[in-house]
Amino acid sequence: MTDASIAASRILQLRAELDEHNYRYHVLDEPSVPDAEYDRLFHELKALETLYPALVTADSPTQRVGSLALSAFGEIKHEVPMLSLGNAFEETDLLDFERRVREGLDLPAGDLFGGAAVVEYSCEPKLDGLAVSLLYRDGLLVRGATRGDGSTGEDISVNVRTIRNVPLKLQGEGWPVVLEVRGEVFMSKSGFAALNARQLEQGGKTFANPRNAAAGSLRQLDSKITASRPLEFCCYGIGQVQGELPSTHIGILEALKQWGMPISRELKLANGADECLAYYRDIGERRESLVYEIDGVVFKVNSLAYQRELGFRAREPRWAIAHKFPALEELTELLDVEFQVGRTGAVTPVARLKPVKVAGVTVSNATLHNMDEVVRLGVMIGDTVTIRRAGDVIPQVVQVVLERRPVDARPVQIPESCPVCGSHVERTQLVKRSKGKETFSEGSVYRCVGRLTCAAQLKQAIIHFVSRRAMDIEGLGDKTIEQLVDEGLITSPADLYRLKFEQIINLEGFAEVSCNKLLQAIADSKQPSLARFIYALGIPDVGEETAKVLARVLASLERVQQALPEVLTYLPDIGLEVAHEIHSFFADSHNRQVIAALLSRDECGLQLQEQGELSAEFSASVTLAAMLDKLNIPSVGPGGAQKLADKFANLEAILAADWLDMRQTLPEKQAKAVREFFDNVANAERARAIEAQLQAFGMHWHSEKKVIAGLPLAGQTWVLTGSLEMMSRDVAKEKLENLGAKVAGSVSAKTSCVVAGPGAGSKLAKASELGLRVMDEAQFLDALADFGL
Ligand code: IVH
Repeated sequence: MTDASIAASRILQLRAELDEHNYRYHVLDEPSVPDAEYDRLFHELKALETLYPALVTADSPTQRVGSLALSAFGEIKHEVPMLSLGNAFEETDLLDFERRVREGLDLPAGDLFGGAAVVEYSCEPKLDGLAVSLLYRDGLLVRGATRGDGSTGEDISVNVRTIRNVPLKLQGEGWPVVLEVRGEVFMSKSGFAALNARQLEQGGKTFANPRNAAAGSLRQLDSKITASRPLEFCCYGIGQVQGELPSTHIGILEALKQWGMPISRELKLANGADECLAYYRDIGERRESLVYEIDGVVFKVNSLAYQRELGFRAREPRWAIAHKFPALEELTELLDVEFQVGRTGAVTPVARLKPVKVAGVTVSNATLHNMDEVVRLGVMIGDTVTIRRAGDVIPQVVQVVLERRPVDARPVQIPESCPVCGSHVERTQLVKRSKGKETFSEGSVYRCVGRLTCAAQLKQAIIHFVSRRAMDIEGLGDKTIEQLVDEGLITSPADLYRLKFEQIINLEGFAEVSCNKLLQAIADSKQPSLARFIYALGIPDVGEETAKVLARVLASLERVQQALPEVLTYLPDIGLEVAHEIHSFFADSHNRQVIAALLSRDECGLQLQEQGELSAEFSASVTLAAMLDKLNIPSVGPGGAQKLADKFANLEAILAADWLDMRQTLPEKQAKAVREFFDNVANAERARAIEAQLQAFGMHWHSEKKVIAGLPLAGQTWVLTGSLEMMSRDVAKEKLENLGAKVAGSVSAKTSCVVAGPGAGSKLAKASELGLRVMDEAQFLDALADFGL
């Protein structure tokens, strides 16, 4: 075969593949390969066509933009075509663009003494969504259309009206009688995450990225679905116009803004290519922290007169260019799936990938979350997959390219035994508790049942136990912990306190000084606050906040350990599910043994810093009515529970009453339900146990009427801002919380007090504006001292 015939057949192959990708992207909103892959195929085709111009045909994907409209929507012909943009990938591409602009405008290049006229550019982020045209007649939104193939789009008038920041009517005055506004419809990163979470929960389809989510949401035949999706609009240009507009691009965008149109906050003016490059770098650095996804920035010659002079080439303006960022999605091969065991024993699939560079970082592993996700993706080992790396999130497998599945692809199977310790792997059950009944369903998580006998779980448990916000033992890194576990020197957190100099000195990277330092750090951790200790235990679902609540409210480990699930639900923000996790953690005999060893004076000798006295907050929330309500008696709500409590005043009286007695205060159906509930011995016993526990904790039902003074700062909200010199923010926060205050991140009229250290900025300004109480660190320390802290 000749080179030309090889090229001809490759060209046909590329066109067929690009047509298919185009159709899936523009019509179905379901692209099967990432944009970067599309770009590569497109460039290969373009290069071949440049080499063999005779092979270019009018139907080649290089000769058109976009794709046909989906026939279900009406068609709209664009009066002014909706064009595409040329791309710059390297800085040199941008300098070439600037050179073409200057040549096109016949501007001298300048000499050693300067003197060259500078071209002004508007700089905007290139939002990753889909282009939309909005037509305003006499200031009223009359039509919305997609870009389609650039000359004909789809009529999505009904759908665009559901986008919250699209004005249905222009504000102010001076707008042209006919004004076609163009811009991007997109979804913010958080909107996308929330939508996917909701879709997962409701068993709906999830989206691979915010762009697909925006496209799929906008092109819905049922506009109610569009309305329920977090879509946003950002305007970047105009189409047909009848009337006057400013003579620069930025001038026009600013006028549009005055008329109520959302434009980018990042819009900037640059003088010449150098300032454009500086803009590119600045936005590039902030790319991850922007609330929406962008795939580059767009530079446009600012003067409309210049734009007219430069004109168009094929379907791209000569006066604008997109300078792209590295793609967030790439294709690679799934070499294998391995299973990792986490702190709570969850066995999770991890994708081992053929290394691929995604936005400048080489990725060779990606998360697959859980087995439900593996099923949802339909992924097999050997598949070609799309990998996405957005911000600091762990890279994810988002899609399988089914067309590229090899014949020998293998299914992903969950192992029957733990890959680390060999214990059995169980599928977790989801328990739903409602109206005194428990129903079970299969969860998506698989767990190794080995607990601390599993080296993987033990290592993670120890890493968590010693971490800064837990027991805060410095000098004990992950590597050291791995060695300690692998060499059998520790089998539980308690063993940390039994470590000897001779054992540590033999570990890698330790010498006499570091060894003594570590032993000292371990010894120094022996008096943790109760909250730190509870957090350090690593109870599933108990994070720092929950640990603080348990410590603050119950005030002793003894109570936390004994508390029945229902009793735990009296605590703020603790629901029944978490309550059951806490209860079963402390019911486990191995956990009890470890805790006992940690606290035993002869063994580890930890001394918890406990408040000891049950908090006023707890006493205030415990009432007989609340307790009856928590029993979840069928058909009895909080109102019924209150009536029973008012009439009978204590549990035994209710247990002894017959339904006719209850009838005096409750409707017949409820009265019978209560009687029937307590006729079940298990229910009656449970109620008695809860009451007994509450009484053992020092509660009495007569407290129902007592008004209890809370902690000194109960009900107050404090804000910490600027830097504190005498203590860390974490410590200051902990102290305030111990006094009952909430510590918030922002200042509002409800803020009780602002502690402002050096460097305080907008929060302090806002506080003074609102006339709030403000103190510096010295005054704060005095205030703490007044409370004995
Ligand atoms: S201007 C004639 N400005 O990128 C100029 N486009 O690759 C036409 N896009 O179809 C477009 N942000 O969907 C322009 N600030 C921006 C943009 C932008 C995103 C999209 C738009 C367009 C595509 C071109």
